[in-house]
Amino acid sequence: MTQESTIQLSLPEGYTFRKLKLTDYSNNYIETLKVLTTVGNISEENFNKLFQEWSQNSHIYQPHVILNKEGVVVSTGMLLLESKLIHECGKIGHIEDISVAKEEQGKKLGNYMVKSLASLAEQAGCYKVILDCSDHNVGFYEKCGFEVGGVEMVHRFFRY
Ligand code: ACO
Repeated sequence: MTQESTIQLSLPEGYTFRKLKLTDYSNNYIETLKVLTTVGNISEENFNKLFQEWSQNSHIYQPHVILNKEGVVVSTGMLLLESKLIHECGKIGHIEDISVAKEEQGKKLGNYMVKSLASLAEQAGCYKVILDCSDHNVGFYEKCGFEVGGVEMVHRFFRY
């Protein structure tokens, strides 16, 4: 086994990276996710329920955000940790739901989010971290240290 990653990171001045908080419901979290895809109308009650589920399973669900100088959520990202039997009970990380508010794009926030989640996966003992993305985002993830590793297959039950 070889060690492959060394991650140097910095955010614009005044910006911060942290775990999602319950109060982010009314702090632009949902609006930021809408840059990525359809979110729908999420009530505060449903957000709270999901937040509790994630919190009670924080060894698996690790939602994170970046806040701007004003303390408003401007980027989202989820790390999922999967414990496997293969590779001597190896662990892998899955990166999901990366989004940067439109007016904040191009400031390396996406790069910071992805590299930070990959670093957390490494610290958690993962032997790799993987994600699915569209062809048009391949270049972005390559700049985050990823490489094309396979083909995504999907069997849809609903179409969004
Ligand atoms: N293709 C190629 N290169 C890109 C792209 C792209 N689509 N987007 C950014 N880059 C480059 C930038 O030019 C920059 O290059 P540089 O270092 O040479 O200057 C580098 O990647 C880092 O860019 P960032 O400033 O960190 O990108 P940004 O903060 O704008 O975030 C993101 C990029 C997340 C793709 C943003 O545009 C976004 O939110 N898009 C809509 C939602 C989305 O597509 N999310 C990804 C879904 S896949 C998933 O969640 C696993």
